[in-house]
Parts: sequence; C-alpha cells; structure tokens
Amino acid sequence: MPKPKVYVTRELPERGLKTIKECFDAEIWREYAPPPKKVIIEKAKNVDALASLLSDKIDAEVFDAAPRLKIVAQLAVGFDNIDVQEAIKRGIYVTNTPEVLTDTTADFAWALLMAVARRVAEADRYVRSGQWKVGWHPNMLQGRDVYGATIGIVGAGRIGYAVAKRATGFDMKILFYDVISRPEMEKLGAKQVELDMLLKEADFVSIHVPLMKETYHLINADKLKLMKKTAYLINNSRGPVVDEKALYQALKEGRIAGAGLDVFEQEPTPIDNPLLKLDNVVVAPHISSASYETRSKMAEMVAENLVEFFDGRKPPNLVNPDVMKVRPLKKLF
Ligand code: GLV
Repeated sequence: MPKPKVYVTRELPERGLKTIKECFDAEIWREYAPPPKKVIIEKAKNVDALASLLSDKIDAEVFDAAPRLKIVAQLAVGFDNIDVQEAIKRGIYVTNTPEVLTDTTADFAWALLMAVARRVAEADRYVRSGQWKVGWHPNMLQGRDVYGATIGIVGAGRIGYAVAKRATGFDMKILFYDVISRPEMEKLGAKQVELDMLLKEADFVSIHVPLMKETYHLINADKLKLMKKTAYLINNSRGPVVDEKALYQALKEGRIAGAGLDVFEQEPTPIDNPLLKLDNVVVAPHISSASYETRSKMAEMVAENLVEFFDGRKPPNLVNPDVMKVRPLKKLF
C-alpha cells in the first residue's frame, strides 16, 4: 500500500516532523508565513491528511476541493479555524493537541498578569530609552499588588483551572464563571459566580474560554463597564472573545487599569492597532504555548494522531467522534 499523503502547513518542531516524514509521503510548506488559502486548497486536492495550524482556515471550501482528505490533525488545542460540522458530514476526522500545553499556557497568562500589574514592559522601555535619569524614587513605576487580590477566571476548563491553581500560591481570592459546575475548582477554594458578578469583583479577569458563537465578544462594552477602574483584563484564549474596540475605549478612558493580551481579533494585529499605543497594555504575538518542550510535544501529538488514524485506531485527540459513524476506522497504511 503506498504511504498516505500528508500536507503539513508549516515547519513543525522536529520531533513530530521526523515521524511524519518517516511514516507518510509528506509535503511541507517551508515558509515562515502561512500558506495562502489557495495553496492549501490546491494541496488538499491530492492528500489524505492535513497537518494544520490555528491560522489556517480549514472550511467547506477546502473540504470540497479535497476528495481524498480523511483527517485534519491540528497543532493547537483550539480548533475554531476548522469547520468541524462540515468535516463530520464528509467523514473527515479532526484532532487537536490538548493537555500538553495547559501548564505552559497558564504560566503565560500569569506572565501577562504580572507584567501588566507590575509594569514590567513599561519598566523595560523606561530603562532602555534612557528615561531612568534619577536613581530610586518612591513614586517610580508603581503598580498593583497581585498577592491577596481577587482573580476572576472566565472559563474554568483545564487552562482556567491551572491559572487558578497558581493563584492559590499568591493567596488570592478566586472567582470563576463557567457554564457547567467545576468541582475541582471548588476544591481549590474558588467560588463559582455569574459573569457580571465576577467582572464587578475581580481585580484581575483572566479569560480561558474557547471561541464559539456563544463566546464571540463575550467581553463587550457593557461587560467592560462592570469592571473596576483598578482591574486588569488578561486574554490568552482567542482574540474575538473580547471586543477590541470596546476594550480600547475602556482603557483610554481609564475605566479599567490595563490589559495583557496574547491574542487579537486579527492576527497578526496591525501595527496601527490603537491598543499598541497604550502603555498599560502588555502584548505578545500569540505565544502562550510556545515553550521548547511543549511545542515539541504538540508536534509529536500531531504525528501520533495521524499514525493512529491511518493504522485504523481512534486518534487519541479526536474532537469530532461522531465522524466515526460516517467513516468507520480502518487500517489505511
Ligand atoms: C493556541 O492558541 C492553541 O489553541 O493551542
């Protein structure tokens, strides 16, 4: 049997890529920038599998061009870029890379939180730009205490929980909002509340929901109005969960104290995004899971999902199990 054909939309970390190259007839998009959609469509015409990233839009247009396509193995926990319902209709398996990135992503939420509260990025710019002209001054670059404050976690799944766990080490009061109950959060001493209550009470609001119809602009102008003037918003989930224009207004008018953002409504965010002009905003280019160890493990998981599927076994990180009724598993190697 010839090896299944896989199109890999970016150079993945070597450990995963090596397996993919050994086991499959693999073609890899070698440029740093993502392949244009028309390239993905062109390549999809003739492959059994795609290894995708969150910046690749994999929708009905791609599927319609891809009669052989059987699986999309994504390197990311989020998969809002993939039209999963359309995939199910066509018997296309979709997998992601959960869990391995939970702690790395939670660490980064904390990096943003600490950076914005204690003005780390501002302080760095202050020193480098030569503004540090007097020695120590009691009023220089004062920020907000993190320890003992109240953190509000919006979305208490794996990553939200890991953020909450870290908050216990800072002696914080932990509130959380979720659409289901989360006994593991209660065990940490966290209290489940309505979103409005969380926004009114938290000193730090940290967002950890997936992007879905229900969470699009979950944090909008009205919700931002509920937050304290001294509170900070942290988002390393998906950009469109927050209405960026409303966030800018709230920050500009001093209605909230600051924001730490790893994600944007449009990525890359345009250089003229007004949020980038604000000193009380700390930004990063969607790198929350970007540790050497985690990105390597994520790439290995992509390879494992592909290998398991083509070997006729359920891929470990299948996100659309209903697909098995449309295309039952079978050995394809
Ligand atoms: C990153 O944002 C991911 O979904 O893994």
